[in-house]
Amino acid sequence: MLNQIELRKKATQVRQATALAHPNIAFIKYWGNQDHALRLPVNPSLSMNLGALHTQTTVTFDDSLQHDLLTINQQTYASDEPAYQRVCHHVDIVREWANIATSARIESSSNFPVGSGIASSAAAFAALSVASSAAAGLTLTEAQLSQLARRGSGSASRSVPTGYCEWTLGNDVDSVAVSIAPPDYWDLQDVVVVVSQEHKTVGSTGGHQLADTSSLQAARVVGAESRFNACREALLARDLARMGAIIEEDTVIMHGVMMSSHPPLYYWNAGTMRIIQATQQWRSKGLPVYFTIDAGPNVHLICEAAHVQAVVKAAKQLPEVQDVLVSGPGGPARLI
Ligand code: PMV
Repeated sequence: MLNQIELRKKATQVRQATALAHPNIAFIKYWGNQDHALRLPVNPSLSMNLGALHTQTTVTFDDSLQHDLLTINQQTYASDEPAYQRVCHHVDIVREWANIATSARIESSSNFPVGSGIASSAAAFAALSVASSAAAGLTLTEAQLSQLARRGSGSASRSVPTGYCEWTLGNDVDSVAVSIAPPDYWDLQDVVVVVSQEHKTVGSTGGHQLADTSSLQAARVVGAESRFNACREALLARDLARMGAIIEEDTVIMHGVMMSSHPPLYYWNAGTMRIIQATQQWRSKGLPVYFTIDAGPNVHLICEAAHVQAVVKAAKQLPEVQDVLVSGPGGPARLI
């Protein structure tokens, strides 16, 4: 691993580093892996970082520690908990790359609630990758950080570069995300409409492993590349009507795969369907807004900044809506 990727060690070893990363919303979704361990996706995806939301993580390598310590949002995790194992496995990759064996203290907090329909793992693994690699004394390129983040959570690869990002296919080194436009290229807004705060029973790591059990997945993957190209083109042309139709189709196809998996994954609830129908009604009355939905029931409404107040107001009038969060485009994962 170490000699495949040119890693340069800093002259003076940094023991502690803090990083901040934003979550992202995918316009073209990633669902299913070619390689589960490396999280190499079966299709390219496209996203926007969410600048109003972030996760901040401090990693301290400390010789006096006997084992890793993990705190997320002030809660300490025991070594037999899945979150602890996933995070420490990620830090193990960094230790391997840096050729160190020191245990670490990892402290992370987010400014958005768990269960709000925001994929917290994207921001979490992007921030963890930037902080832990710097604290281990590595100086990684953006591509190497995106590769590292991808190993923790596929979508985290897209939270490393700035603004609007694409994550393409490739091998371990090549399947990384790059920015296709900075945050100020287009002031798109994500209005996150919360219709449930329950923790999902099957997370995306388990979901990706079920994708191939759906007879629809092969067709989804075949069509994904042309949706990706068309969406990318519409985004760069700042054409929301064209892009909106593609993102709605792409998310519905992904949920079709989820619902037809064995066992099936029904992430939608009645509130989800209500927001989809309301979005169509709002559009027919002249409000340009489009929906996309991740691995959960909550709906992300995508619109331009000029219409965000109208979208928030309309959403808050629906009885199914428990909360609304708003974010525009965000910058890269970075040391602070
Ligand atoms: O990165 P993961 O394993 O949390 O998967 C993300 C899956 C979706 O959010 C449903 C789609 C995406 O591309 O973000």
